[in-house]
Amino acid sequence: MQLDGSVVLVTGAASGIGRSMVTRAVARGAKAVYASDVNEPELAKTAEMAGGTVITMRCDVSKEADCTAQVERALADHGHIDLLCSNAGVGFSDGPDWMATSQSNDQWAMAWGINVMAHVYFARAALPSMIKRGTGNFIITASAAGLITQTGDAVYSTTKHAAVGFAESLAITHGDDGIGVTLLCPQAVNTNLIKLVEGGAASVDGVLEPDQVVDLTFDGAEQGEFLVTAHDTVLGYWKNKVENYGRWVGGMRKFRRMLIEKTGRPV
Ligand SMILES: NC(=O)c1ccc[n+]([C@@H]2O[C@H](COP(=O)([O-])OP(=O)(O)OC[C@H]3O[C@@H](n4cnc5c(N)ncnc54)[C@H](O)[C@@H]3O)[C@@H](O)[C@H]2O)c1
Repeated sequence: MQLDGSVVLVTGAASGIGRSMVTRAVARGAKAVYASDVNEPELAKTAEMAGGTVITMRCDVSKEADCTAQVERALADHGHIDLLCSNAGVGFSDGPDWMATSQSNDQWAMAWGINVMAHVYFARAALPSMIKRGTGNFIITASAAGLITQTGDAVYSTTKHAAVGFAESLAITHGDDGIGVTLLCPQAVNTNLIKLVEGGAASVDGVLEPDQVVDLTFDGAEQGEFLVTAHDTVLGYWKNKVENYGRWVGGMRKFRRMLIEKTGRPV
């Protein structure tokens, strides 16, 4: 897969990593980028910033009909999609009482729809044409929280673990159909999303800029890499978890106590 000359679809494109996926895809020579979000004014700004051929659409990724419509639009214009970046995501925290069960069922359902089911909806809509063509690629934006857990955010960590699970299934099931999958699992990236954790967990291993993360991710996708973490630290933490799960949980409890001492909250 090469970005140059490609047809690309990006969700969550009004801000942060998604905005950067659009601008970097155009900079790398994408022929057309189908960019969507629920925030239409900011989405229009993304298209303006990117230049090139960017087709914007309102898409609430928790609604299957919206996801299907975005895929169908790209297929109607070009007959295929080379790279589908399923990127939109939401995070809450366990505040104000910092129980793992704090969030309402509605918040859990909303995060499940956006952080997990959206990947399923886009894959369901795009796979048939990709399989027919014998080639097609997905970038699934999960998070380091999907491998090693974000303290103080049970909804985010749980749904991002599920996104990692779906990306694995997608890659294992459809690799032989010519489908490439790249799973993006960074720690803190300088976007609106980390406002929640600024000064706390996000600052521990450094905050990367969206363009840095997206360039590494696109390089990874072009090279057929499954996992891109952007932060090298993720792999070390993840290895510790696999080597001794119980000890890792203990280490995370210690980290949580340290954050509370430092910031008054566990995120
Ligand atoms: N910023 C980080 O530190 C970080 C780290 C790891 C993973 N991520 C992941 O990166 C992805 C992008 O987040 P970001 O950091 O750029 O944050 P962001 O808040 O800047 O961007 C998220 C975008 O998703 C959009 N969105 C929210 N709900 C939507 C819905 N229902 N349908 C369509 N669009 C919707 C928002 O309008 C926003 O434009 C997310 O999946 C996030 O979990 C972010």
